[in-house]
This record gives sequence, C-alpha cells and structure tokens, in this order.
Amino acid sequence: MDQPGHYMNQRRLRANAHVRELAATVTVSHKEMIQPLFVEENLPERVENRHMTGVFSDTISSVVTQIAADMQQGIHKFLLFPIPAARHEIHFDFSFAAEVVQTIKNAFGDSVWLAADLCLCSYTNSGHCGILDAAGKKLLNAETVNVLANYALQLARAGADCIAPSDMTDGRIGAIRRALDEAGFDEVAIMSYSSKFSSNFYGPFRDVCKSSPNQQNSLKDRKTYQIDPRNPLDAMASSLRDASEGADFLMVKPGLPYLDIIAALSQRTDKPIAVYHVSGEYAAIELLAKESLVEAKSAHIETWIAFKRAGATVIITYAARWAKQWLG
Ligand code: PBG
Repeated sequence: MDQPGHYMNQRRLRANAHVRELAATVTVSHKEMIQPLFVEENLPERVENRHMTGVFSDTISSVVTQIAADMQQGIHKFLLFPIPAARHEIHFDFSFAAEVVQTIKNAFGDSVWLAADLCLCSYTNSGHCGILDAAGKKLLNAETVNVLANYALQLARAGADCIAPSDMTDGRIGAIRRALDEAGFDEVAIMSYSSKFSSNFYGPFRDVCKSSPNQQNSLKDRKTYQIDPRNPLDAMASSLRDASEGADFLMVKPGLPYLDIIAALSQRTDKPIAVYHVSGEYAAIELLAKESLVEAKSAHIETWIAFKRAGATVIITYAARWAKQWLG
C-alpha cells in the first residue's frame, strides 16, 4: 500500500503556499465584515471591555473617533448597540439611540453604513428583550412589536441605513417593514436576527449592555423567545418566515456552534446570510491567547473561513477592525 501510485496523493495540493492558494475555494475579506459598536449614555469616558481586548464602550463623542480610526482600517459597516441610562417597564425613551445615530451619520454621511440593533433588553428593568406581563412571567408579543416598530421609525428618521431586530418576537419584521414603508423609509434595510439561539455565549455582551435577565420573580432566561439549540427546524422556519415578512438579510447567531444552520439555510434562501461571532466566542479566543494556546489572529481567521465555507456572506465580528491588516 505504501508504494507510489497505490494511494491518492492529496499532498501535492498542499505542498507550498502557491499551490495552496490556487487550490483554495474559500476567500475572506474585511469588505464582508461588520464591526459592532457599544455607545453608553452618561459614560464619563470610554472603557475597554474586561473580557474583550480592543472592544470598548464608547461615549457619544469617542465613538466618532473610533469610527474614524476604523475607516482607516478599511471598515465602513457598523452595528450599533446604544445603552441608555434610564430603564423602564413599558415607557421607553429612544432619544439617546437616535442621537447616536444622528451624530454618526452627520459626521460620516454615506461613507459609513450604519445598522442599529433593535431590542429592548437595554431598556427594560427586567433585562428581557420585550415587555413582560404584570406577573413578569410572559413576554407580551403584540405590545413589544408595537414598541419596536416605533423605535425602528425613530432610528430611521435619525438616519440609520439598516435596522437589525434582535428581540425574537413574532411578526416584528413585517410590522417594522410596514412602519418604515408607510413613513417613506422604504430604502432602509432590515437585517433580522432570524435564527438566534438561546445561547450560553452572550455573557460578555450582557455584561456590557447590562441586559441579563435579572429579576427574582420574573422569567429567568430567554428560552421562551430565543431558539432552542436542539431545534434546527425552528431555526429554519424562523429565518424563512422573516425573509417572507421582508427581511433583506438573515442572520445566524452565535457562529461556530451553528455552522450546520448556516449551511442548511444557505440551501433554502436567496437572501444574504450574516453570521454573528458573538461576545463569548470572541472571549474564548482571547482566553486561549492569554494562555498562549492560540494566536488570536490565526484563530479568528480560521473562524471566519469556517463561516464562509458554511455559506455565510456577511460576518459580524468584534475583530473586524483588524481584519484587513491580518488578512494582508
Ligand atoms: C440583544 C442582543 C444580544 C446579543 C446581540 N443582541 C444578547 C442577548 O440576546 O442576550 C449578543 C451579542 C454578543 O454576545 O456578542 N438581544
């Protein structure tokens, strides 16, 4: 069996950098990436995330500096997470979020493409993604969708290029699309967090956004509205439904544990699929790198390749701002 010719030589295509480049069928570019941004109201000065090197909570003025620096790195597409100072049960004030969007679009105009995350988890006292009933046991779907559609309108008026609903209520995409169209914002895109799983990997994000479900007597987790990891059929149905309601982009989130969902969905839709490499996945690479067990750069690149191989067209990653430099 060891004689030449008795086995298929697969190593000829691995033999050197040139031939590996020729044989590769998957490419990654910073141009397909979106950089998340956190902007917190009443923050005295920007602070680096405890768990994610190089990821900051910005003030409304430091975010402008951050974006200018990111543009120097070839990054022009952003996903904004506004963190308001005040929290409420039912009455929410979206003016800080609108102010951030307006500030960014006034400073950069169409040289940036700005998507705004749309969720109530940084607004509610409970830390849940929508309005709960009086007992705190049930997410009220219709009430939440109404508030979200109104929130989306305010973000569109402020100049957002895209609305990215991450709350996981039913019917929100249709309601938001209708509200936007009726107000003349038919060119504002919707990127739906359409296959968003109830995941263990959102920890560092919730730390930053103060959005963990936090109340003793209310729903203790997001399992009644986010997708069960054991239910790929739900992930498929939810994404296809959101596409039919008018989502321009679909999304799978988190990333690496759900490559099968990306692959299956890409066979079933003609919408571009975004994947979100979430905070806990980013922090996992950071922790390995701290122990010198991986090189962060190579681990991120390998991850991005996996996303592309599975069928994603858009990658949302906290490391987008280094992608151009890293990819060379
Ligand atoms: C808000 C939201 C979450 C993330 C994005 N939007 C957290 C959650 O659903 O609890 C997670 C992003 C990350 O972990 O990087 N609904």
